[in-house]
Amino acid sequence: MNRQLKRDTKVVCLADLEREGSRNLSKMIGEYYNEGAMDLITLNDNKAAYDRYSLRPRLCRDVCAVDTSAAVWGAKSTIPVGFAPTAMHAMAHPDGEIATSRADSRVGVPMILSHYSNSSIEDVVATGKSGGNPYAMQLCMVNDWDTNISILRRAERAGCKAFVLTLDTPSLGRRLNEHRNNFKLPEGLSFPNMPEDVDMRNMIQDDPRMTYMSSVSWDTVRTFIAATHLEVFLKGILTAEDALKALGTGAKGIIVSTHGGRRCLSAHVDSGIRRGSDIFKALAIGADFCWVGRPAIWGLAYKGDEGVELALRLLRDELQTTMWLCGCSTVHDITRAHLGRLSSSGEFVPLQPRGKLLPELHPASRAEQISQTTFSEKNKMMELESQVARVRVAAV
Ligand SMILES: Cc1cc2nc3c(=O)[nH]c(=O)nc-3n(C[C@H](O)[C@H](O)[C@H](O)COP(=O)(O)O)c2cc1C
Repeated sequence: MNRQLKRDTKVVCLADLEREGSRNLSKMIGEYYNEGAMDLITLNDNKAAYDRYSLRPRLCRDVCAVDTSAAVWGAKSTIPVGFAPTAMHAMAHPDGEIATSRADSRVGVPMILSHYSNSSIEDVVATGKSGGNPYAMQLCMVNDWDTNISILRRAERAGCKAFVLTLDTPSLGRRLNEHRNNFKLPEGLSFPNMPEDVDMRNMIQDDPRMTYMSSVSWDTVRTFIAATHLEVFLKGILTAEDALKALGTGAKGIIVSTHGGRRCLSAHVDSGIRRGSDIFKALAIGADFCWVGRPAIWGLAYKGDEGVELALRLLRDELQTTMWLCGCSTVHDITRAHLGRLSSSGEFVPLQPRGKLLPELHPASRAEQISQTTFSEKNKMMELESQVARVRVAAV
C-alpha cells in the first residue's frame, strides 16, 4: 500500500544501474567510463558534495499535483535533467547514441551529443523528431577552425536547439586507467561528426582537425558564438571569475558554475548527480537545469535504450518523491530554504537566501559594468562559489 511502482527486478536506483550495467563492460571500457583523471579525488567529491546538504521538508502544502517539468532551450523537459555529452556510447551498446536518443525522446528530456559520439548528429536528432525533445551538439574546439565551423553548421542544419562549447579541454586530463589498459577505440567504431578522412584510431594525434585548441581565448569564444544563431552554452566553468567572462561572450548559459543571483546567464550543472534528491538540491542551490553523464552509459550497458529510459524514470520517481515530501508542487517552488547544512559546531543551519550578486545590468552596458563590479561583490561571489555544490567535471 502506498508503495511506488517497481520498474525493474534488479535496478531500483542509479547505484544499482551502475553495478548491473558495469558488469556487462570489459575492464578497458568499464574503467574508461567509470574512472576519471589521476587519483579520482574530484570524481569522488562530485557525489559527496550533494550529501553535505540535507533537506528541510515543508509540510501541509497540498502536493496532489506535483509537476516535475522544467523549461530548457525553448522546450519542455519532463524533468529538470538531461544527458550531458559523453563520448562513444557504442562501446556500451551497439545502438550507441541512437539508443540514448530513443529513450530521451520517450521520456521527453534533452540530449547533448558528444563531439566524440559514434552516431551522427543528423541520425540522433532524426530519432527524436516525434518526441519533440530538444538536442544540442557539443564541441571541444580543435586547431582547424574550418572543422569547428563545419560541426556547428551540421548541428544547425540537423535541427539542434543549442550548441555546447566545452572549454575545459585545452588538453585531456591524465586518466591513468587509459594508460594502464592501453585504451583504444574498438574495431568497427568511428566518429561520424568528424571529418571523414581523419585517422580515428590514432590516440596520440597531430592532425589539426583532431587536436584540441589549447590557445582558445575569450575572443575565440566570442567569434565562434557570433557565427551562429543557436543558443550557445559554455561548459566547464567552475569559478565566478570565468562566469563573469562568459557574460560578455554572447553565450546564453553556462554548464557547471556558481549560480549568480542575477540571471543574464542560465546556470546549468552536472557531475555527480545520482538521485532525484541531488537534482532537488542542485535546483535549490540555484541551478536552472541539471545534466547527468555516466547514467546513460550504465543504462545502455544494462539494457540498451530500455536501460537508459529506466535511469531517467528512476530519477523522475525520486525527484517527484522529494518534491512531495518537501512540499513543492513545481520546480519553481524549490528554494534555498529547503536545504540546510551541519555547521562545525554541530548545529543544523538552513541555507540563507542569496542576495543579488550583481547590479541589474542593461545589456548594452553589461560588459563595462561588470568590469567595474566592486571588490565586495566579487568577494561575495567567491564566498557563494564555495557554498555552491562543489561540482567538478571529472572526465571529458
Ligand atoms: C566517459 C565519459 C565521456 C565524456 N565525454 C565528454 C565529451 O565528449 N564532451 C564533454 O563536453 N564532456 C564529456 N564528458 C563529461 C560529461 O559531459 C559530464 O560533464 C559528466 O559526465 C557529468 O558527470 P557524471 O558522469 O558524474 O554525471 C564525458 C564524461 C564521461 C564519463
